[in-house]
Amino acid sequence: MNKLIRFASGFGLILLTGCGNGNQAPAAASDTAAGSTGATLAVLPDTAAFHDTVDGQPTALYILKNKQGASAAVTNYGARLVSLLVPDKKGLLTDVVLGYDSVGKYVHQPDTYFGAIVGRYGNRIAKGHFMLDGKGYTLATNDGPNHLHGGKKGFDAVVWTGQQPNDHSVQLTYLSKDGEEGYPGTLQIRVTYTLTDSNALIISYDGTTDKPTVLNITNHSYFNLNGQGSGTINNHILQIYADRYTPVDSTLIPTGKIQPVGGTPLDFRQPVAIGARVNDTANAQIKYGRGYDHNFVLNPANGDRLAGGGRLVHAVTVQGDQSGIVLDVFTNQPGVQFYGGNFLKGSDPLKAAKRDDYRSAFCLETQHFPDSPNEPSFPSTELRPGQNYQSTTIYQFSAK
Ligand code: BGC
Repeated sequence: MNKLIRFASGFGLILLTGCGNGNQAPAAASDTAAGSTGATLAVLPDTAAFHDTVDGQPTALYILKNKQGASAAVTNYGARLVSLLVPDKKGLLTDVVLGYDSVGKYVHQPDTYFGAIVGRYGNRIAKGHFMLDGKGYTLATNDGPNHLHGGKKGFDAVVWTGQQPNDHSVQLTYLSKDGEEGYPGTLQIRVTYTLTDSNALIISYDGTTDKPTVLNITNHSYFNLNGQGSGTINNHILQIYADRYTPVDSTLIPTGKIQPVGGTPLDFRQPVAIGARVNDTANAQIKYGRGYDHNFVLNPANGDRLAGGGRLVHAVTVQGDQSGIVLDVFTNQPGVQFYGGNFLKGSDPLKAAKRDDYRSAFCLETQHFPDSPNEPSFPSTELRPGQNYQSTTIYQFSAK
């Protein structure tokens, strides 16, 4: 409950900062970030490497700071979280998200979606097709036979308009035109990143449309709580507060069933090492996902009501085995995709001259269920004129 009270105050912060217009120059990046011991561990990228142009539009890097010395960097190219520096058990600041050190590298390595906001439909839509109000819509099939993360040029690959009202938050807005990537309706979307003084990163999304559409927007950060580029995540200890999940076929499209995790390698109801059962390919789900790449149905009772009116559930707790850094995820979304970095190849040059590697990071994509537009029994992802889309996820960090 203590935690929820702290989050409630953080949530109030984003409500207060949710207005204002116009672009504002981002705060200057500090060269280094030192923990309470004074040792320098992690460095924020050079903002100059993000002052660029993509599709004729200016890009930038926005720096968020809190009173604890934690910091984050966000670029308006794909509204991406580039860096997130939080203290480990010794107080040393550790960069816990994978990312690149220039806009150019993000443009040239689109497939990983590092730190990006993905949409209009994050995750998969079967065969790139759905019906809405009796009309069929055809989308790009950019993941085998299916549509993934909004298509060929999703929200991860466009330049958003950035505005920094203060040193601990940034707002990014994007106008997605009617018909863009095949989706109906002009969609106005806003994403706000806020770094609180209790070391929580709050990502809040809101949006409106002028025609009925579907929307499932999330953040695609890759976490390694021992520090980006520090090797396997298989010894991280993970707990997912989900009794059920949505099993998939061999192309990672849900079968439509919702099944218990009990007795399967997807049972994370008690804390367990990520790697303990990740190679259990006798299980068809592990085989299809090449490890973990599944949507968990969050237990609805595992939450509380917040002062801002939004109800967040406690979705996940995960701890880095070396750093002691603990990440608690809270969200108002019904599901979370746990993706264990099975497609990372060790070929991506990360910040600070590090490299990624196979299963060296995980994503916790808070979301609606994959392929919901084709599954009437799943919670609806439809957004209609006059409705306000609102989604909030809190990534709370601590260390022990
Ligand atoms: C998907 C993975 C995919 C990754 C990068 C995740 O959200 O579930 O299957 O490889 O994104 O595209």
